[in-house]
Amino acid sequence: MTDKKLIYLDNNATTKVDEKVLEVMLPYFSQYYGNPSSIYEFGGKNQRAIKEARETIKDFFGARSAKEIFFTASGSESANMAIRGILNADKSKNHLITTKVEHACVLNLYKQLEKEGYNVTYIGVNSDGELNTEELYAAVNEKTALVSCMYANNETGIIFPVEEIAQKVKSINKDTKVYVDAVQAAGKIKLDVQNTDIDMMGISGHKFHAPKGIGSLYVKSSVLLSPLVIGGHQENGKRAGTENVPFSKRIKR
Ligand SMILES: Cc1ncc(COP(=O)(O)O)c(C=O)c1O
Repeated sequence: MTDKKLIYLDNNATTKVDEKVLEVMLPYFSQYYGNPSSIYEFGGKNQRAIKEARETIKDFFGARSAKEIFFTASGSESANMAIRGILNADKSKNHLITTKVEHACVLNLYKQLEKEGYNVTYIGVNSDGELNTEELYAAVNEKTALVSCMYANNETGIIFPVEEIAQKVKSINKDTKVYVDAVQAAGKIKLDVQNTDIDMMGISGHKFHAPKGIGSLYVKSSVLLSPLVIGGHQENGKRAGTENVPFSKRIKR
């Protein structure tokens, strides 16, 4: 089959880069390629471009402050940064909860955490793919460090009541953190994290017309997170590495 005949409908797997996205990115490869950390204007200009982009993503998440927004390379990295980051920052609790239908980037990380000594409760879904929330609430206890739950399922499209889950979990244990994998929800459901009890939320650009290789993580300002990648001061010391300026650049519509 040639490309001409291809009718692509699998936008949950990935999407085509929007032409407007490509257009705003291109000059940052060929013209404005300075290092954002450089002390001279050629780099400083790019630091401002990232600042603007962070503001846009803050609004996209419905977050309170751009300081709550971190750029990552994927939805998988956002999940790992959030989950590992929380557990490394506070080792006082060893119980975790997630669902049986999470994407591999959460599920396989939890399997790994089990090997490292954490107790994990996996919550199931019914025959319609809906989460058994009562089972989830019953599992929360004083040792529960984290609850991870996807917003929309990548295979069934079922939407989980993540705001209600976060609120209920906090009412049982206010110290339990909640991570929401919003990779399949972003761009389809309006996000409004500041008016919820959700502590962290991850998204991935390639699911909604940005290139592969860019994601973002929202972390509520009150939440302490240990960095996964240690090095320079980038991303407020939470993720070292020279910033991916073209991929973070915002589109002016
Ligand atoms: C629900 C969900 N979470 C996370 C991911 C991982 O995102 P990425 O491909 O950016 O690592 C995917 C990708 O398919 C997904 O569908």
